[in-house]
Amino acid sequence: MKLKQTLSAITLSLMAAASYAGEVEVLHWWTSGGEAKSVSVLKGLMEEQGNSWKDFAIAGGGGESAMTVLKTRAVSGNPPSAAQIKGHDIQEWGRLGFLTDLSDVAREENWDSVLPEVVTKVMKYDGDYVAVPVNVHRVNWLWVNPDVLKKSGAEVPTTLNEFFKVADKVKAAGFIPLAHGGQPWQDITLFEAVALAVLGAEDYQKAFVNLDMDVLSGEGMTEVFIQFRKMRDYIDPKYRGRSWNSATSMVINGEAAMQIMGDWAKGEFAAAGKTPGKDYLCVSAPGTQGQFTYNIDSFAFFKLSEEADRKAQKDLARTILDKDFQEIFNLNKGSIPVRLDMDMSRFDKCALDSMATFKSTSTNGGLVPSVSQGLATTSYVQAAIFDVVTNFFNAKDPNPEKTARKLARAVKAAM
Ligand code: BGC
Repeated sequence: MKLKQTLSAITLSLMAAASYAGEVEVLHWWTSGGEAKSVSVLKGLMEEQGNSWKDFAIAGGGGESAMTVLKTRAVSGNPPSAAQIKGHDIQEWGRLGFLTDLSDVAREENWDSVLPEVVTKVMKYDGDYVAVPVNVHRVNWLWVNPDVLKKSGAEVPTTLNEFFKVADKVKAAGFIPLAHGGQPWQDITLFEAVALAVLGAEDYQKAFVNLDMDVLSGEGMTEVFIQFRKMRDYIDPKYRGRSWNSATSMVINGEAAMQIMGDWAKGEFAAAGKTPGKDYLCVSAPGTQGQFTYNIDSFAFFKLSEEADRKAQKDLARTILDKDFQEIFNLNKGSIPVRLDMDMSRFDKCALDSMATFKSTSTNGGLVPSVSQGLATTSYVQAAIFDVVTNFFNAKDPNPEKTARKLARAVKAAM
């Protein structure tokens, strides 16, 4: 009821700006409980403005399957109105000439002044807005079931060393220490958290953004692989192919103690009616306190031929950055609003911590882009990293030192 009232109030203010009805077909991969709830807010708002919403949902966290389907559609000359496209991929689609210019909406709505620069530069191709950001997700989180830790006689770990000690205790008490889904993007999510802890933000940036061969192949990276591989000892044998939200459920229902995952996991805890600080804890991934690995969800907008659909597209662009939408969407999604001028009073401690760390790291160098989410580097380099890291994680007896050198070679070949 409350959601309905809020949506109606938002709609009234948006209707004033909206023009006339068309259709928006929106491609996304928000299919888990928390995600579906979040995206339904956007759908509701578009429909209340008189537009029709054609849902184009392709399941699969990280969006790999969604991107494959999108390529087929776009190449056959039939792209959707908007698609969940992030980071460097926006530039790649822009270069191919598929994306439409949203500068007029951006000017009317002052996007340049309400959005942080780290965000706007990702959304523009050749100086013009071609994508609209929805949120900021922090990726380097540890989600904890405090009850399981208590039953294991363990405290929340703050360093990698502590993490392994806690994990031993949890294992001895008969629980799964780390919930994990063995899909490449989830392996990289774990890997980048370990890399940030071991290398620190500066070398993380050198390795994965500047693609510095010395850091990629060096001793620090060998250590990253050693620590990363140790994580496998604390994951249950059925991890391969498991979805990220099934892994989150294992923490929610007390089967597992912890999960390292972006704060879309919070959307699952919230959808299950759980309270942060009581039923679950959100803390920095071990060894990454005061650092922030960012993932920005965004929709890129395609060139369309029908005038009514182009107008509906602009309604969508405007709605995504509407303040009330930003609040309600991000409360459900687990992320923080992407606008800097928001009232955060309805947000929980996890979101407030995230916002504070996002702001402090924006100026102190601790803010780094996520590799697993396509924010750090091109899709080609990302694919090379995914390959090496996933193969290492799943191999029988892999060699960390050789793998660091292999990583550098693979990245070089993809540059
Ligand atoms: C997206 C999130 C989403 C997660 C799991 C990420 O790539 O950025 O919005 O919740 O995948 O599906």
